[in-house]
Amino acid sequence: MPRGSRRGHHGPSTKQPVNLTGAWEVFKTIWPYLWEFRARMGFAFILLVMAKLATVTMPWALKHIVDGLDRTQQQLIAVPVLMLVFYGVLRFSAVFFSEARDAVFSRVTERAMRRMVLRVFRHLHALELEFHLSRQTGGISRDIDRGGNGFGFLMRMLVFNIVPTLIELALVAGILLINFSAWYALIILFSVGTYIYFTVVTTEWRNRFVREMNQLDSATNTRAIDSLLNYETVKYFNNEAFEAEQYDQNLARWESARLKTRLTLMLLNSGQALIIAAGMVLLLWLAASDVVSGEMTLGSLVMINAYILQLFMPLNFLGMVYREVRRALTDIENMFALLKKSPGVSDPPGAQPLKVSQGAIEFRNVNFSYHPERPIIRDLSFRVEPGQKVAIVGPSGAGKSTLARLLFRFYDLNSGEILIDGQPISAVTQLSLRKAIGVVPQDTVLFNDTLFSNVAYGRPEAEPEEVEEAIQMANLDAFIRALPEGNQTRVGERGLKVSGGEKQRVAIARVILKRPPILLFDEATSALDSATEQAILGALNNLAKHHTSLVIAHRLSTVADADQILVMDQGEIVERGTHLQLLALNGRYAQMWRLQRDYDEQPKDVSH
Ligand SMILES: Nc1ncnc2c1ncn2[C@@H]1O[C@H](COP(=O)(O)OP(=O)(O)OP(=O)(O)O)[C@@H](O)[C@H]1O
Ligand SMILES: [Mg+2]
Repeated sequence: MPRGSRRGHHGPSTKQPVNLTGAWEVFKTIWPYLWEFRARMGFAFILLVMAKLATVTMPWALKHIVDGLDRTQQQLIAVPVLMLVFYGVLRFSAVFFSEARDAVFSRVTERAMRRMVLRVFRHLHALELEFHLSRQTGGISRDIDRGGNGFGFLMRMLVFNIVPTLIELALVAGILLINFSAWYALIILFSVGTYIYFTVVTTEWRNRFVREMNQLDSATNTRAIDSLLNYETVKYFNNEAFEAEQYDQNLARWESARLKTRLTLMLLNSGQALIIAAGMVLLLWLAASDVVSGEMTLGSLVMINAYILQLFMPLNFLGMVYREVRRALTDIENMFALLKKSPGVSDPPGAQPLKVSQGAIEFRNVNFSYHPERPIIRDLSFRVEPGQKVAIVGPSGAGKSTLARLLFRFYDLNSGEILIDGQPISAVTQLSLRKAIGVVPQDTVLFNDTLFSNVAYGRPEAEPEEVEEAIQMANLDAFIRALPEGNQTRVGERGLKVSGGEKQRVAIARVILKRPPILLFDEATSALDSATEQAILGALNNLAKHHTSLVIAHRLSTVADADQILVMDQGEIVERGTHLQLLALNGRYAQMWRLQRDYDEQPKDVSH
């Protein structure tokens, strides 16, 4: 270990210290998960020591068997039966205790793995919308997958290989030191030391190739998933060849990175084999000359030989183990890097749940921008009285959906306040805030599940009859009855197997089921034909009757009955009032109204 760090200080060109601290960081992060199982781990450790004791006693028994058979030492009287039986018992116990240790320990690994992966998953949901809008799902799921597996591997290796080998090494060195000249222990320790040093140094050098390969692996995967998710778009533009080309470029880079890791691996393995061979020749040579000079019995030579074989067998793996452990550490590091991203939106300390009595909403001098250079909402203020229906209209990109996201607290404001029943939404728990607001978003994405479960998602504990009722109110029942599989029809990935209007109605049904005090419709009926829209508007109005609702709409006719209409442009409210007031004002709204009315009448004019 100290060698590794010294190297790190001397070589500024190689950024190796990161690895050691990285490993330490990883260890600190996983320790709490393991500490929970300290009793079990202690027990496993005892079993491990027992197994190793049996293992190192075996060559000793072998020595006595051989010496007992050696005519030059004594007269042969009988087969050393007791020793033979003892040898058998040792062999059996070594395996038995190892197996018992595995059984005791595997629970620790699996449970800790489960906890860890769950924590990352929870954290991903706690991260703000912005992270998920710029995320790369394929890459993330690979990171979690690899991190979980990496942890399992690390544990297995630590417990089944690294720690046992170290214990065995110490025991063997001790036995040799006590029984023979110090040279034996020295040679063993030296060759093992050289072996480990060589492995560590070479593997750390190799590690960058492994990292590069992993990164390319992730990138390739992300690209492939993105391409397949965009299947329709690819077809619209005949870009199959282009996609394949892009994919292949990534694959080519991955291929060359892979080749580099292979070649350097060969180097590592050959070096290791050389060190082992040299160590063995040295030891046997020393032992042979001791036998010749009569300082050592034949049995002792057999014992030393058995120790070397026994020791270097797991050491042979140690090379692979070290490489894989490095890789596992990198994978775990990547997974935990996800946890390091702190949520941009979080509950303030001591946040209380939101108490909704009437459902009054107030925006007070709200300023907001996604990027500092480009303000989206500017000094915007308005009030929605309890039970009112307030409409927000305006050109595309004006910031209407952004207002909805702000009310839902997907983002925090730059300045100003949003209040619900007098409580600033930034001061209450996000959970309670989001519970109070039902959203029908502009673009609904469905889970790859049945229609029924997708609707039931609005309130998972709802009774099936309530779900049916919501389906009916959202005007989905006729559609569902026409389906061969009814409400058990699966909607495909992201809901791509149902129409836009059907998806919208599923979203409406969900909100009906959720029954929140405040409703938010973002173009909730934009994908529907006029007849269906009218039918649903009836249902929605019914639903909204005793609720405060905020309706974003392009089609002005759907909001003409609102208590107040806010006309937005470039992040500001440019006009406000009822439909009639705004018409009388003869400004932006009146202009938009006339345009839409003319447009609606146009087809009739053409047909004449
Ligand atoms: N996550 C984001 N990061 C950066 N800019 C964004 C983000 N989301 C939206 N915008 C930008 O903010 C502006 C307002 O977007 P918003 O979705 O609020 O418009 P809108 O009024 O709902 O438009 P539409 O009627 O087309 O739905 C747009 O110019 C958009 O490009
Ligand atoms: Mg919008």
